[in-house]
Amino acid sequence: MRYKLGLIGHPIGHSLSPWIHKHFLDLAGLDGEYKLYEGDHQQLPNVLKYLKQEGIDGFNVTVPYKQMIVDFLDEIDEDARILGAVNTVVLQNGKWKGYSTDGAGYIRSLTDPFPNLLNKNTSVLLLGAGGAARGIYRALIQEEIGRVDIANRSVVKAEQLIASMRFPGVDTQVLTFQEAEEYLGHYDLIIQTTSVGMKPHVDQQVLSLENLSADTVVSDIVYQPIMTQLLQDASDRGASIHHGHAMLLYQGQLAFEKWTGQSLEIHHLVDELEKKLRGENS
Ligand code: ATR
Repeated sequence: MRYKLGLIGHPIGHSLSPWIHKHFLDLAGLDGEYKLYEGDHQQLPNVLKYLKQEGIDGFNVTVPYKQMIVDFLDEIDEDARILGAVNTVVLQNGKWKGYSTDGAGYIRSLTDPFPNLLNKNTSVLLLGAGGAARGIYRALIQEEIGRVDIANRSVVKAEQLIASMRFPGVDTQVLTFQEAEEYLGHYDLIIQTTSVGMKPHVDQQVLSLENLSADTVVSDIVYQPIMTQLLQDASDRGASIHHGHAMLLYQGQLAFEKWTGQSLEIHHLVDELEKKLRGENS
């Protein structure tokens, strides 16, 4: 069989997903294609009709369709329903089923280099309360780790995030950035999910790391640039760092599993994608 896969979103001309899934198809020894379907969001139902006619097996969804696509699918996975967002769609028996692989993909990307980091004693600080933070927060609480605090510019948004998926057994507190800066040394892991520091604003950093402990792992989901100012600062202070492009690869790995049933070993691609991104930026 020849797999027909793709991505819908706007704009997606610079997406790394074709590179990623071409590597996955090769690794799996499967014949297939991964195409970009860029469309106007007014026409989402037409795009979906077109994809069905094309005989597509599955596709990824990115900005700005992640939330609005929920209304056009036949079935939604439980996690995606609670998050209100879908990034992976599979055609099963003629029906569209939507999933969210961002949060679980993030966890996989983290446990690959740090296999013992997440457990019931781990204390995590999540920076941001947007769509990406929602997926990661949900995946973290499903891991039943000890504490997940959230700091966000809008405190109300962080409170709403927590209220939408309260989970017994995990301690959570909402903090201002100022409070987070003060307590920074208490965390085992800090995850940066805001857009601060993203190209072209590469000299911006969402909070000061003055009180950072060198035992803390600092993770930034921004991957343009690959070395954000926050990660550089953390590294200069002796902390371990985790780059954002790894999440992109692992959410793709999970999507690929849903489409093809193949569970791939992709560890070596983390470095390859890093090289590609650094090459593009030099
Ligand atoms: P995504 O889907 O990538 O998470 P989003 O849902 O638009 O994007 O969320 C963006 C996040 O970045 C939010 O947490 C936002 O903070 P607010 O909720 O207070 O708006 C955060 N963010 C964006 N620009 C910011 C800035 N200049 N300083 C601090 N936080 C910022």
